[in-house]
Amino acid sequence: MLDLLIIGSGGTGLSAALEAATAGADVAVACKSLPTQAQTCMAQGGINAALGNVEPDSPEEHIADTLRSAHGLADEAMVRTLCESAPETIEWLDRLLVPFSRIDPTETPHSPLLTSHSLQTIAQRRLGGASHPRACYAQDFTGLKILQSLYDRCLEAGVTFYPEHTLVDLISADGRVEGAHFWHFAEGEIHSIRAGATLLATGGFGDLYHGHSTNAYGASGDGIAAALRAGAALSDMEYVQFHPTAMAGSALLISEGARGAGAILVDNEGRRFTDELGPRDQVARAIFEKIDAGEKVFLDLRPIPRRTLEELMPQELRLARLHAHIDPFEEPIPIQPAVHYSMGGIDVDRRLAARGIEGLWAAGECSDAHVHGANRLGGNSLLEIIAFGRLAARNALATPKIAPGTRQSPDPASRIETIFAREGKFNPYHKRKILGKRLYHDLGIIREERGMRSALEYIDELRAKLAQTALRDRARRFNRALVEYLEYENSLLLAEAVAQAALWRRESRGAHWRSDYPQEREEYARPSKTVMKNGEVETC
Ligand code: FUM
Repeated sequence: MLDLLIIGSGGTGLSAALEAATAGADVAVACKSLPTQAQTCMAQGGINAALGNVEPDSPEEHIADTLRSAHGLADEAMVRTLCESAPETIEWLDRLLVPFSRIDPTETPHSPLLTSHSLQTIAQRRLGGASHPRACYAQDFTGLKILQSLYDRCLEAGVTFYPEHTLVDLISADGRVEGAHFWHFAEGEIHSIRAGATLLATGGFGDLYHGHSTNAYGASGDGIAAALRAGAALSDMEYVQFHPTAMAGSALLISEGARGAGAILVDNEGRRFTDELGPRDQVARAIFEKIDAGEKVFLDLRPIPRRTLEELMPQELRLARLHAHIDPFEEPIPIQPAVHYSMGGIDVDRRLAARGIEGLWAAGECSDAHVHGANRLGGNSLLEIIAFGRLAARNALATPKIAPGTRQSPDPASRIETIFAREGKFNPYHKRKILGKRLYHDLGIIREERGMRSALEYIDELRAKLAQTALRDRARRFNRALVEYLEYENSLLLAEAVAQAALWRRESRGAHWRSDYPQEREEYARPSKTVMKNGEVETC
């Protein structure tokens, strides 16, 4: 039996694995595609740490910015742990050879230390809601470069990987988890892996809003859904973050780093209408209101000097040319807000242990560690996945292990066989598109009771229909349709959780904005809790 099973091979999973392997633990990482194919590689803007390399900064200011943006829903102790650990986190990544962009000493003779390639030479940029340039970056490839370095180091450290393992369910009963059941894509059979501790690092559920999300297709919240089915509690599920600047049509992200470097937001008439570096929820709402009123909104990169743009954002320049057929040096880019990040997730305590269930740990976007509250700051998610991935691994390994093999658990084979036995036709891609559109409309940036209730009814209908639909491919091995079916089932469960939580919160706070309850209300100054009771999703 493993010491630690990690599910997910993004930044959280790989940081946890490296930490555990370095401590001599027997650790394995299972993931549904190939290692490093994770949402982390899409994180462009940077990773926050108050290094003060560009202008004076401090962890206290980082904490204050994070708490202000969270609108009273964050746990100050957890925010403190996160922000105070940030400089050491960057130092760790620097030692792992993450190729951070560096300050140009000829342009910014800020410190005598600039001659050495140490922590003090790392370049930093300003993202929304931050009082200083605080995000360390590697051009606009920050998440990707971090992942590649982590994966190299994990291979060196001898971490075992189980690729193409789709999580079916946690091995759980009586409030305890001791591993997980996976569907092995290549073998076409169940592979059960037992462990003394299980860490979910499976990412968020942004692709519930398929077609209106910066997230990849696989961001279906599989770990969160499995935890809910196993008896864990979720929190803050109503808090879905909309990024202000995705490209209209493709929903590809244009990083906040662009606005940090001087890009502006303009309307049809070329007029600015909002503070480009305000908190993300406010900027997204200001853009949404324009678009809802039939206008178009553009991100104009032309105030940024050509050389700076080419150096800071080579990837995004290419994406704008390829997907919007726009040369950003010549004309502004049409943009729209798109779902970017799940602030809610598996409710964890200050050790990052899942509440309501033993032996289960969660970190990164699948968890709610109460550091983002009602509105996450750009650059705090990469920080969280690295800092809390490592912390979760340390805490899980330091906790006494669960005795092996004494528990009953749901039979994973029967769940899969039931799906194979169903008659009908199933096109999950088409269904996820319809679901995404409906959620964007009724559980989007501005919400109200009637729309949310109708979305909930629609989700219930889709869940009922699920039992009558079948796989279009019945092969056991390499069956993509089965994986998509499981993802879709998870998406529907979480869509219900989001709708229930959003209905429960009868106020407007941060990214949860209700036209029928436009004020913050004292009685809601706490996280929502969502659980599953007798097969029903309930929020309180
Ligand atoms: O705009 C961005 O670069 C996004 C950063 C983040 O979500 O942390």
